[in-house]
Amino acid sequence: MKLTSPICEKMGIRYPVFGLAHSIDVMVALAKAGGYPVFGAARSMPEEIAEEARIMKEELGDLPFGIDLMLPTSVGDETDRRASLAALPREHKEFVCKIADKYKVPRATKPTFFSSQIRSQQLFEEQMAATLESQAHSFASAVGMPPEMIKRAKDHGKITFSLVGAPRHAEKAKAAGVDVIVAQGYDAGGHTGPIGTFSLVPQVVDVAGDIPVLAAGGVGHGRHIAASFALGAQGVWLGTAWLASKEHALCEALLAKLLKADSLDTTISLSHSGKSCRLIKSAWTDEWDRPDAPKPLKMPYQQVLTADIIAGINEHEIEPLIYEATGQSIAWFNELKTVDEIMQRLVTESETAFSNMNQLLAG
Ligand SMILES: Cc1cc2nc3c(=O)[nH]c(=O)nc-3n(C[C@H](O)[C@H](O)[C@H](O)COP(=O)(O)O)c2cc1C
Repeated sequence: MKLTSPICEKMGIRYPVFGLAHSIDVMVALAKAGGYPVFGAARSMPEEIAEEARIMKEELGDLPFGIDLMLPTSVGDETDRRASLAALPREHKEFVCKIADKYKVPRATKPTFFSSQIRSQQLFEEQMAATLESQAHSFASAVGMPPEMIKRAKDHGKITFSLVGAPRHAEKAKAAGVDVIVAQGYDAGGHTGPIGTFSLVPQVVDVAGDIPVLAAGGVGHGRHIAASFALGAQGVWLGTAWLASKEHALCEALLAKLLKADSLDTTISLSHSGKSCRLIKSAWTDEWDRPDAPKPLKMPYQQVLTADIIAGINEHEIEPLIYEATGQSIAWFNELKTVDEIMQRLVTESETAFSNMNQLLAG
């Protein structure tokens, strides 16, 4: 029994395995391994998106790829990061300075996406324009799905995905005319709602009707893929898996932390962006969990507050503090592999799981 479903023909791929990463090398390897890559461009400036899409098109030729953006409607119109930083509560700024002192975090020497601007509706509009003008085959929206953005993407000939964390979000996606719904459960790395993948996927499938659904959150083994089919999904969408790939080339301190982690080593925290986000546990998440810590600020202010220290932590690889969005599926990624090896493992395991299920059912 082969790992395939109708979405493979619809999207022009060999396996119904979709992957999100912020790395072009992972995207290229994933497409070549038979999956469908969706580039996370939420941390890219508009001109970077144009260039990243150009490179992917050049590398991939006719193989399809998508671009994913975060478009939270709760974020406002403020565009002056310095003014915004100056206006943040003193208690929060002092708390961040204390962390920097305690762990001896040097200043970053290079600006980053978060240290050079504040997320605003203007930025989202410019990111969207760059995405629509690109040769990406599809557009995915996460953390917010303004229906007019879905319409614009469809008018530009893009296939549209929407990541949802609750059945009511699936209703909205359906009403907006989304082509593929990604049901992303609580187990997932990154921003996530409170419903576990096992409970979420069949509820979203029931709402979706004829719209294909992908299962996301906690998929680390072929048995999860087989289970996703049983829940009514036509495929899976993975994020954590690719962090442990050679192509992602994470820095040593972070990679070592991830390779030895299991599902208990992730935590839900507001400390990254102000929205509920599953991260690998670190001294960063621990500090913000302390009873005397201030409550993280709302998006986008938490990242205005923390951008400079995070830039220093990442640039200088401050081991105790360094972190990344990571799902409970990390338990299945404890060795550094190529994207192709990860894909081959998932394919073999899922095909074995299908035949085991068949034998069980046959008695
Ligand atoms: C490092 C990392 C970054 C992520 N960034 C985004 C993002 O920018 N946009 C998005 O839609 N999802 C993002 N996600 C969530 C993934 O799209 C996906 O739904 C999730 O990783 C699935 O669960 P898993 O982590 O167990 O594979 C991210 C996940 C990880 C692990």
